[in-house]
Amino acid sequence: MQHFLKETDIKIHQAAEVFSLAHAFKKGRGRHTPPSLKGQTWAMIFSKSSTRTRVSFDVGIHELGGHPIFLNKNDIQLGRGESIFDTANVLSRFVHGLIVRTYDQSEIEQLSELGTIPVINALTDYLHPCQIYTDAFTMAERWADGTNFLESLKGKKLAYFGDTANNIANSWILGAAMFGMELVLAGPEGYEPSEEIKATLSESGYAPTWSFTTDPEAAAKDADVLYTDTWVSMGQEEESAERIAAMKPYSVTSDLMKLGKSDALFMHDLPAYKGMEVQEDVLYGKQSVIFDEAENRLHTQKAIMAVLAEANRR
Ligand code: CP
Ligand code: NVA
Repeated sequence: MQHFLKETDIKIHQAAEVFSLAHAFKKGRGRHTPPSLKGQTWAMIFSKSSTRTRVSFDVGIHELGGHPIFLNKNDIQLGRGESIFDTANVLSRFVHGLIVRTYDQSEIEQLSELGTIPVINALTDYLHPCQIYTDAFTMAERWADGTNFLESLKGKKLAYFGDTANNIANSWILGAAMFGMELVLAGPEGYEPSEEIKATLSESGYAPTWSFTTDPEAAAKDADVLYTDTWVSMGQEEESAERIAAMKPYSVTSDLMKLGKSDALFMHDLPAYKGMEVQEDVLYGKQSVIFDEAENRLHTQKAIMAVLAEANRR
């Protein structure tokens, strides 16, 4: 059973297929999406808030011919203390796939070990792989000639600013290695990538392509993409004041954008906090691709589900 808990759970030839399929789904939307999930019901169990992930999976499952069921933690017994493991174990007797947003990566790893239905990571504290595949596709659709999506990413410089120890930064450490991109993480001391993510990368077999600096200007220099995420992730609200103070020098401003290549993209997984990790003129500026990036969650996740469905049929 193939799952998608981290970037490297999808093999590199499948990643190429994800990008081509996402492109085809986007172009042909409403006309010829193959019914990869026909007759199937997929459950989405969310223990944290979501706009993009929730809606794009709901619509995507429907467009692939399946039936989505959205289950918010507080509407089911999970909210009264039933474990995510028991919840998913029961649901796996009813449904054909699980999409889970939760805190601990170990919870979704346990679920996948049930081994009866595919599990997709819709964000944990540790990783957000659906976002990173979408971001990579959003870059590739600008840089590729319509066919060589994966190749178009190779050697490109991605500069990431702010919380260099969160789920998005971790996921980019894996994604950049897999896609052959140079990743420069610029953040404050004390927020360096963890030993855990270094170990996960090492186990994947992909060589590291990332570096860490406390100097945002050095990171931005000649970058192809300037990327940021919130300084206070879901579950970290109590640390808000210290995080904001530490990360202030890493806000993406128009001056920082000017250090990147003249055609550099600005990206953000959203939701964005204007005046904090990004200034408003950059967020809505001409180099920003944030709304294409959000839209592409739909096309990319449909492609991921189609590729997994195909692999799990064999
Ligand atoms: N980027 C992202 O995952 O957004 P949501 O939290 O709204 O799903
Ligand atoms: N790092 C953010 C990403 C939100 C999509 C969080 O975990 O809250």
